[in-house]
Amino acid sequence: MPGRMKLGVLTGGGDCPGLNAVLRAVVKTAINDYDMEVVGFLDGYEGLIENRYRKLTSNDVSGILTLGGTILGTSNRADPFNYPVLQHDDYIYLDRSTQGLQNFERLGLDVLIAIGGDGTQAASHGMAQKGINIIGVPKTIDNDLFGTDQTFGFDSALTTATEAIDKVHSTAQAHHRVMIVEVMGRYAGWLALASGVASGGDIVLIPEIPYHIDIICDKIRTRNRDGRNFSIIVIGEGAKPEGGEMVIKRMIANSPDKIRLGGISNQLASQIEGITTLETRVTILGHLLRGGAPTAFDRILASRFGTEAVRLSHEKKFGNMVALRGNEIKYVPISEVAGRVRKVEYESPLLGTAISLGTCMGVESLDVLKKEEVVIEE
Ligand code: F6P
Repeated sequence: MPGRMKLGVLTGGGDCPGLNAVLRAVVKTAINDYDMEVVGFLDGYEGLIENRYRKLTSNDVSGILTLGGTILGTSNRADPFNYPVLQHDDYIYLDRSTQGLQNFERLGLDVLIAIGGDGTQAASHGMAQKGINIIGVPKTIDNDLFGTDQTFGFDSALTTATEAIDKVHSTAQAHHRVMIVEVMGRYAGWLALASGVASGGDIVLIPEIPYHIDIICDKIRTRNRDGRNFSIIVIGEGAKPEGGEMVIKRMIANSPDKIRLGGISNQLASQIEGITTLETRVTILGHLLRGGAPTAFDRILASRFGTEAVRLSHEKKFGNMVALRGNEIKYVPISEVAGRVRKVEYESPLLGTAISLGTCMGVESLDVLKKEEVVIEE
């Protein structure tokens, strides 16, 4: 008779609403449906490498469905293959993946459910190749993970952004100002595009489409000429002007992806004021987008993901990430997801909707998004 299956779980990368909902679903499904034992690693892959964990029971996950953050803690610096270690006031980077594998084996674990974004999925792919049985769960407010139509966390961040832009809207109208709202999203514009459409933003600027300042100013002037003497601009933190650079807010020394973006909206505001003389104000939503209770949509998606991750564990379908396709929960090999970013494309239906609504994307034509045709020479 095989013994009870023992499952490890961790939450890695930047937090987002819904992490606790996944943990709750994992623990409840593991215990209720399969009589498994569950152990939670603390602070993402850091916990696996440093052997910091706690046993998780049904009581531990009771009452956490609506909580933001993660009861396990997280880290976006703990890449097992490139692990930062402080030495003489400086970081050196060591491959500590073998330590992770040993800790996994010493605990007698059968599978590790790793909940995280692109960095976590890439680390999981590496750990799977080292011999750990892994199931991935896609998380991020950026919605930029390959292989899934949507990550959990995105809908909650989108709701927060939309509510914030709605509030900025009324004050923009009252003061006849140009208002810029900057949202997170790194190199993908999903959050900016979706919150722009949801809140009726006049101009939406995303990293995938380098903008032209003249086109933005023309749109603002036209609106003013037509009697709509205020404008709302939604901009993704990774957006940049044509021929310009992204604005880097800070560099994090011991992070695998050291760049932290933020502040492009201030640059844009002073350019708009300079060209149009219209008063332009900036609101940067930043980490506000990562906090609070998950929306009902995210609670359900997180619960479905968590339950499916345990079912895949039971069926030993290791090396896969659970995914949303249409309205169905599927799974996809982590090897197909790791190292890839899902960006807004020319064909993205939401972009088409924005254009049909008359949203200015900061360019004359979207051709910049067209993939170059590959010409095969005879
Ligand atoms: O990937 C999620 C995310 O919130 C990005 O949108 C943002 O650029 C980044 O993380 C911020 O990371 P940190 O919390 O380290 O500042």
